[in-house]
Amino acid sequence: MKTHSLLSVSRVRKTYSVKQGLFGGRLPLHALSDVSFHIDEGEAVGLVGESGCGKSTLAKILLGLLEPSAGDVMISGQDLRRVRPSQRARLVQPVFQDPYSSLNPRKRVARIVGLPLELAGMSRDERQRRVMEILDHVGLPRHAANAYPSQLSGGQRQRVAIARALISRPRVLICDEPTSALDVSVQSQILNLLQDLRSEFNLSLLIVSHDLSVIRHMADRVVVMYLGRVVEEADTSSLFESALHPYTKALLSANLSTHPGSGLPMIDAKWDFPNPIAPPTGCPFHPRCSIAVQRCSTERPDLAQYGGQHCACHLAG
Ligand SMILES: Nc1ncnc2c1ncn2[C@@H]1O[C@H](COP(=O)(O)OP(=O)(O)OP(=O)(O)O)[C@@H](O)[C@H]1O
Ligand code: SF4
Ligand SMILES: [Mg+2]
Repeated sequence: MKTHSLLSVSRVRKTYSVKQGLFGGRLPLHALSDVSFHIDEGEAVGLVGESGCGKSTLAKILLGLLEPSAGDVMISGQDLRRVRPSQRARLVQPVFQDPYSSLNPRKRVARIVGLPLELAGMSRDERQRRVMEILDHVGLPRHAANAYPSQLSGGQRQRVAIARALISRPRVLICDEPTSALDVSVQSQILNLLQDLRSEFNLSLLIVSHDLSVIRHMADRVVVMYLGRVVEEADTSSLFESALHPYTKALLSANLSTHPGSGLPMIDAKWDFPNPIAPPTGCPFHPRCSIAVQRCSTERPDLAQYGGQHCACHLAG
């Protein structure tokens, strides 16, 4: 792992305790197992995988909203657990999927966006100046400052959420499905805005999406997860031109044959997504893998390096 990474995740695990039925006991669900990756200064990393593979769990851990069960998250050289919330807000901020539920409907835009500055004790005039400045940056008209979220369109609301995230001048934005609740017609506007803001503010981005077209548009590097594990990591062009993992290949072929934004890719697999409480032995993908061999059902492949790519498959390379 590079030492100068702005954000690094090292062998992170997250286990939930899940109740089985009405009268059943609780069982462990390993949502993340030994996840490691990094984001460099100014870099955009895409995180992709089917529903339930652990993307949002990882995003919440990076935001300090969830404690990992094990492993370390370092941000700007500091252990995230030791960073005070006020300082954390200046390092990492979220942009969530649903701008409808993430904005307080009873507060006007200026108040919503300026709240972090208010909490930090900034004067009213200075707050006002900073709010207007950031509304300009995210492409909202100044009169939007007086509106309530319900008076804005979905795309405008997501711009407000982005403004709120940026007002603390963070180094990293964690964008969890930032456009999947929006109309297709405004999705690309929001993605282009994030790209512009990235270069303007030298932001690092984590783009979480199940939509490979979003990842291709936004990311320099891609991390592919399956059942809570990283199965492939590569720079974006290598991943789209020469994916190594059978799961990535299946996602790519599925994604090309469905409409962008039409929901989760249906991958060409013999079985459904497995039960995360009782994951398959060996390679977690083996029940669905069309090229699996004997050892795949008993031996779990480690993530190994092949040129500039990393892949967890016995048959890679
Ligand atoms: N609070 C929780 N308690 C128990 N299990 C949980 C909890 N949150 C998530 N899970 C489980 O952990 C696994 C990972 O969930 P997560 O929400 O991180 O996936 P995801 O990749 O973001 O999925 P999606 O694409 O649907 O948003 C899933 O099996 C999910 O059911
Ligand atoms: S290790 Fe085996 S089952 Fe897993 S992806 Fe590779 S070939 Fe398929
Ligand atoms: Mg999610």
